[in-house]
Amino acid sequence: MKTYLVTGGAGFIGSNFILYMLEKYNDVKLVNLDKLTYAGNLENLKSVENHPNYVFVQGDICDRAAVEALFKQYDFDYVVNFAAESHVDRSISDPEIFVKTNVLGTVNLLNIAKNAWQTGDDTYNEGAKYLQVASDEVDGALGETGFFMETTPLDPHSPYSSSKASADLFVKAYGDTYKFPVNITRCSNNYGPYQFPKKLIPLMIHNTLGHKELPIYGDGMQIRDWLYVEDHCKAIDMVVRDGKLGEVYNVGGHNERPNIFIVKTIIDYVKNNVDGEVGEHMMKYVADRKGHDRRYGIDPEKIKNDLGWYPETAFEVGIVKTIQWYLDHEEWMNRVTSGAYQEYYEKMYADR
Ligand code: NAD
Ligand code: TYD
Repeated sequence: MKTYLVTGGAGFIGSNFILYMLEKYNDVKLVNLDKLTYAGNLENLKSVENHPNYVFVQGDICDRAAVEALFKQYDFDYVVNFAAESHVDRSISDPEIFVKTNVLGTVNLLNIAKNAWQTGDDTYNEGAKYLQVASDEVDGALGETGFFMETTPLDPHSPYSSSKASADLFVKAYGDTYKFPVNITRCSNNYGPYQFPKKLIPLMIHNTLGHKELPIYGDGMQIRDWLYVEDHCKAIDMVVRDGKLGEVYNVGGHNERPNIFIVKTIIDYVKNNVDGEVGEHMMKYVADRKGHDRRYGIDPEKIKNDLGWYPETAFEVGIVKTIQWYLDHEEWMNRVTSGAYQEYYEKMYADR
């Protein structure tokens, strides 16, 4: 039985990871530490809340006493750190919390795990590992050609990506300085079930269904490399188990699409399958995001060659599965977008 500390497990990718792991293995125990910010939602995990191999603990990764207590209570083999403030637009209006959670929280986890696992000078519990879930956004923006590699120099632009880059460097420093067992996975834009509708795909689905305007930043020709969340969960599982210590792995699948293509795909699907009244007239070009990165694109050769990972879900398949999931979970969508969300959304778009 391997015991994982999964932080931020009530968020989008973390909850998908917990569901994926509990479905796949009988011999894992997952302790989910989540602060339950606006982005955390225990409803995502309703189906496993009583699972014997799953425990939820509400808490902050920055809280030293709380994290130390967990390490005393459980004999963790692995830490998988998903916990973060993750929304670029929010980081532009309120950068400080990104430093607290993404940088200080990561250093706090590293410190406590290091103390708990240390067996001697530069030696640690056999097989123990800390995995940092990172982002391709630390690499900056690409022009029309080329891809992000693990060796691409860090060049973050937004407060969000700068905080994630800083966290990556601390993880690297713990590996380099203390020989602490770490891996970093840098993934591209995820999409799939349980994503909070602050991000492009669920926001556009939510607004299309609700006959609301679809805000397109700038000219809508920015490109993202879309990764179906289950493929990402599979990659994290493989890196935890087999990743070479100290290595960074880029996770992405050559699924690059301009934003406008994504929005039109969602409109077409809803128009043809659900509601004939929706259409491109709902798109509204709004002020561009400050410092908006033009293109992201991952080169996944290393994780393919070293660990045999590949993205199984083509974008055309994943996007239909995703839209259908939101259609089938209207109540989930209504609940997460009521109350605090409404306020958040209105503030975010007030100036656009
Ligand atoms: P999310 O915003 O949906 O979830 C983040 C979770 O972390 C939430 O449950 C929240 O309550 C929790 N959290 C926030 N602050 C916390 C704190 N101080 N202590 C404990 N829990 C806290 O984010 P996500 O999209 O699931 O992203 C997960 C990770 O993957 C993040 O580290 C993010 O930077 C990274 N990432 C995401 C994407 C993407 O496309 N979503 C792409 C690349 C990297
Ligand atoms: P987002 O989902 O916020 O992810 P990230 O900024 O991490 O890539 O945004 C994806 C792309 O979609 C990005 O280029 C910004 C754009 N976008 C819009 O045009 N309108 C929107 O309402 C949102 C949320 C994003």
